[in-house]
Amino acid sequence: MQRTLPRPGRQSADVSADDLRNVMGHFATGVAIITARDGDEPVGLTCQSVVSVSLEPPLIAFCPAKSSSSWPRLRNSGDVCINVLSGPQGRLCRQFSRSGTDKFAGVAHSPAGNGAPVIHEALAHVEATVDAEHDAGDHTIVVCRVTDLVIGSVDHGPLLFYRGGFGNFH
Ligand SMILES: Cc1cc2nc3c(=O)[nH]c(=O)nc-3n(C[C@H](O)[C@H](O)[C@H](O)COP(=O)(O)O)c2cc1C
Repeated sequence: MQRTLPRPGRQSADVSADDLRNVMGHFATGVAIITARDGDEPVGLTCQSVVSVSLEPPLIAFCPAKSSSSWPRLRNSGDVCINVLSGPQGRLCRQFSRSGTDKFAGVAHSPAGNGAPVIHEALAHVEATVDAEHDAGDHTIVVCRVTDLVIGSVDHGPLLFYRGGFGNFH
């Protein structure tokens, strides 16, 4: 068994970004694209750091990097849509992770009730309003209040992200 962490007496200052990425890469997640409308333009970014936080009130959270150029634009809008990706949407996941590109090129989408883009063929989508932001190192923890939620395409399982690669749930 490969054992990278922990070592007795290890301090957080000894934990490198590579260690963290490598070990946390074993925590398989789904993948979402978080979208909003900034004026006339749709904006979005791929995000795995999505978590359900509270049932009453209904809150979810995600963590954009402070380096993200899309997050300030999403925040501008305040009304976001969390699109849960399906197994065949790996290409979209990559497309929405490339900064400075036309992320919506060739992407079928339509407006949610709150105006944010719903990506077609997503497994589900959650409409939400940004409620609070918490500073967290090089990321921000963004807590959003859920305003509507829909199960979409059920033809496929989820897109899974594990150790830097994609998989499906069978
Ligand atoms: C599978 C996957 C998961 C990602 N999860 C996150 C995340 O949780 N938070 C984040 O800030 N970036 C995440 N990224 C990277 C962002 O998608 C990427 O940095 C962002 O889209 C850059 O574009 P921007 O400058 O338009 O924000 C992820 C990328 C991939 C491929």
